[in-house]
Amino acid sequence: MSIGYKSFHEHSIRDPKSFWSEQAKLVDWHQPFSQVLDYSKPPFAKWFVGGQTNLCHNAVDRHLKDRANQIALVAVSTETNQEHAYTFAELHDEVNRMAAILQANGVKKGDRVLIYMPMIAQACFAMLACTRIGAIHSVVFGGFASHSLASRIDDAKPKMIITAEAGMRGGKAVPYKPLLDEAITLSSAKPEKVLIVNRGLSEYTTVANRDLDYAAEREKHLNAKVPVEWVDATHPSYILYTSGTTGKPKGVQRDTGGYAVALASSMRLIFGGNPGETMFTTSDIGWVVGHSYIIYGPLINGMATIMYEGTPLRPDAGIWWSLVEKYKVSVMFSAPTAVRVLKKQDPAFLSKYNLSTLRTLFLAGEPLDEPTASWIHDALKKPVVDNYWQTETGWPILAIQRGVEVMPHKFGSPGVPVYGYNMKLLDEATGAELGPDQKGVVAIEGPLPPGCMQTVWGDDQRFIKTYWETVPGKMVYSTFDWAIKDKDGYFFILGRTDDVINVAGHRLGTREIEESISSHANVAEVAVVGVEDQLKGQVAIGFVIAKDPSKTANLEAEVMKTVDSQLGAVARPARVYMVSALPKTRSGKIVRRALQAVAEGRDPGDISTMEDQSVLAQIKHVVGK
Ligand code: PRX
Repeated sequence: MSIGYKSFHEHSIRDPKSFWSEQAKLVDWHQPFSQVLDYSKPPFAKWFVGGQTNLCHNAVDRHLKDRANQIALVAVSTETNQEHAYTFAELHDEVNRMAAILQANGVKKGDRVLIYMPMIAQACFAMLACTRIGAIHSVVFGGFASHSLASRIDDAKPKMIITAEAGMRGGKAVPYKPLLDEAITLSSAKPEKVLIVNRGLSEYTTVANRDLDYAAEREKHLNAKVPVEWVDATHPSYILYTSGTTGKPKGVQRDTGGYAVALASSMRLIFGGNPGETMFTTSDIGWVVGHSYIIYGPLINGMATIMYEGTPLRPDAGIWWSLVEKYKVSVMFSAPTAVRVLKKQDPAFLSKYNLSTLRTLFLAGEPLDEPTASWIHDALKKPVVDNYWQTETGWPILAIQRGVEVMPHKFGSPGVPVYGYNMKLLDEATGAELGPDQKGVVAIEGPLPPGCMQTVWGDDQRFIKTYWETVPGKMVYSTFDWAIKDKDGYFFILGRTDDVINVAGHRLGTREIEESISSHANVAEVAVVGVEDQLKGQVAIGFVIAKDPSKTANLEAEVMKTVDSQLGAVARPARVYMVSALPKTRSGKIVRRALQAVAEGRDPGDISTMEDQSVLAQIKHVVGK
């Protein structure tokens, strides 16, 4: 079936109300909405006003009638060698138990619950239990350490935190509980309760009257039936923190009704998944891809979803493909970095398995380079669909929407604007709309479609200022990405306009890393930039001016350790160079673009605004380029 992309997209922009009220039929409403869109206070878009629904109901309860005994969730850990499948009925039971634990410990509608967990089934139960009772979850990626965690605790002020005592990576236990304890000590907001899933992987201490054992609590609520809390479509379902230009992460706040509709529709029209089939998304629940396409998207669509704890290479490089065969995966979603890792392995690992159920592989999160795209396409002989989006939007902005029209793919392009997104390519300096092949900032004209962020948690002004006031003379949403658009309307993403870097598909803020490095006693000044990397896309590189240059022998290792312990190994710079000066403008601003160019062995371009032009020569020498 082909609807015709052009007219479909055009309809979504011209008449968003009729367009989205049609899509809204894909989810269950407890009370129908009276107004599709309230855009009376731009840029705040309220979707499906007056409607009441519930994410957990749409993801779980509503499927009990037709698919109670169908698998809903498969939790696979190649770290602990455990594999457990839950039917929709079993998932429903577990979510009810978890919801009862939350309620018994005082968690109510609107309260925040922070989830700091590895990729285990209980993390999924926890997310769904929160949305079931109208509590707002804030999942923090397990790779983040105590300082990152503390800043999120302070901002979200969770009533309860759910964690596990440890994760496991590459065969080694990675403790979570001590990092959480340290984070709670560091933060001024204190959770009343901490619920711990004890996996028996590492020892930990508990705090009396605060810490609860999940297994013991679960026993108390084995037969619990917790009714779904019907919430307004605009009720926040979750907060997910992401990095930006400042050191303080932003809490992206998502609604309920709009998100449910956007995901349900994207599952059909972009990802082409059918109820009863299996989706395998290799991301982590700590990232937006995990929220949308490990947990809510597939489940809302009545599909089984796979949660995977482990690396793509253990026990061998065939592990993901073996899961595709075993669970008859039809839709797979991963990141270019993972494919680049697999590309280095023997292709026999891939051809060994029966992948006949797999229809499409989706890749997102970072630029998809041609060699990677061609390799995986040739190896799988299935469509490989690049898609571009952000934590802020919650679902794809650019993609070939195969459920709408199977348009040709172009290498290096994630495709064309997704329905609902009124995309513009604008000149950064003037705000003027650009023509084909001119480089500009990717912007979205309001209202943002359903599913996109409502605001920055607790800070409407920051939402307006950060996203809607950066293009001169226009109130448009800035993605902070550069791109060009060709004459056929395909976008080619060229990297960020701000200080966000993308390491193996993980979005990190260089300012946060700089702040962490600055806390080292011997660091006078620091700049961090993202530098091109063959495998990870980008890596963070630090440039440090030491307070005492005679004591720098171990400084690189110490700085890395500081970042590891504060932010987590995920943010650790690949290299830290000692320099005696940083390139600055006459007004004292560090010229990060020049640093990045030099570290990548490129020409730094126009450096006439730089105060001391000899600084770059020294840096070139230090990095050996
Ligand atoms: O720079 C873009 C890059 O990742 C950023 C968003 O990262 P995050 O908030 O973690 O959300 C990821 C959701 C998939 C974007 O601003 N990015 C994401 N997808 C692509 C991409 N860059 C190029 N091609 C993509 N397909």
